[in-house]
Amino acid sequence: MKITITAVKADVGGCGGHIRPDPRMKEAIAKFLETAKGVSIIDFHIQSVGDDIGIIMTHTQGENSEVVHKLAWDAFCKATEIAKSLGLYGAGQDLLKDSFSGTIKGMGPAIAEMEIEERPAETIVCFQADKTEPGAYNLPLYLMFADPMHNSGLMLSPKMSEGFNFEIIDVEKTDADTIISLNAPEDIYDIVTLIRNNHRYIIEKVFSRTTGEIAAVNCTTRLSLIAGKYVGKDDPIMLVRAQSQFPATGEILSPFTIVHYVSGFMRGSHIGPLTPVPINSDISYFDGPPIVSAVAFNVKNGKLTNMVDCFANQFWNGIREKANLKALYIREQGFSGPAMLEDKELEYGGITERLDKLKDRFYTRKKVVKQKP
Ligand code: F6R
Ligand code: MG
Ligand code: MG
Repeated sequence: MKITITAVKADVGGCGGHIRPDPRMKEAIAKFLETAKGVSIIDFHIQSVGDDIGIIMTHTQGENSEVVHKLAWDAFCKATEIAKSLGLYGAGQDLLKDSFSGTIKGMGPAIAEMEIEERPAETIVCFQADKTEPGAYNLPLYLMFADPMHNSGLMLSPKMSEGFNFEIIDVEKTDADTIISLNAPEDIYDIVTLIRNNHRYIIEKVFSRTTGEIAAVNCTTRLSLIAGKYVGKDDPIMLVRAQSQFPATGEILSPFTIVHYVSGFMRGSHIGPLTPVPINSDISYFDGPPIVSAVAFNVKNGKLTNMVDCFANQFWNGIREKANLKALYIREQGFSGPAMLEDKELEYGGITERLDKLKDRFYTRKKVVKQKP
């Protein structure tokens, strides 16, 4: 049976700042989506991470379905109404357009969707992150699909022996989608040459080279490129298929032990460790650190099983301590050097304005020519 999984995520208002949504916002979305269950969608799951609400929907209408995208848009509008009525901060922040126009892509919310031939025990992991950008998933995706240090199945399982194909998009090319297709293992030096740049080259899709099936889909929205100005970080969502011909769930989670430094800490302008957290976690210190949640689930005829909250397991407590230390270490140097993003990636205009004002105050020092005695 062909099933589509559509995962969308948006910040439509937070309690106490950009901290977390109000539970009533999630309730309003659930109530609304219940009316569509059995009509346009089969099942759904709602959660939050930081100030974003994520919705996973299953249906049979294929990718880019206007009906399903509109449903998601309307759901976020319902939550926005609640956020506005409660006076929450940034109500409707990620809904960048006034009305729906056929697709939710380019309208603000992050989206990852895949149409699959459902396996007898279809296993999927959905990652949702806050205070960071889609490129934050570059390193984990590379490690889970191309590095035997994390994916032992690349050595041990004949089902993965051919490796994986990576589709990488250049998000700075906004006129048309500009993509490159590279294979692991033979192209890994080319892959990492691109994906070291998390702002520009983003792994959008991964395919099994053994079966040709889709293995992972990451969202590639850059809100600032849509809106032409800072409107919050892009807070990404991603779907990864697990087990059998794909990495095991534990191999998919393995790269998140690194808590690698990513962009998006305070004002989307600092770097911080990507910290694995249980679902519905809020953020705190310095509006962060950047956080990521993961739910693993099975799909049967489009029906979702109960979600496993992967990073709630006790193992991740120690990893969170490491992340906290990494957060404090980088924060010790405040604004200096690599603690902040390069000028063009800064999410507020203050620094550029200041630099502009200072431009005229620079002067050229006169060369002192020493006279010969
Ligand atoms: C980052 C984020 C926060 C805000 C910060 C200031 O994505 O949401 O760190 O940038 O709280 O927010 P404003 O400018 O809305 O007061
Ligand atoms: Mg926010
Ligand atoms: Mg957010």
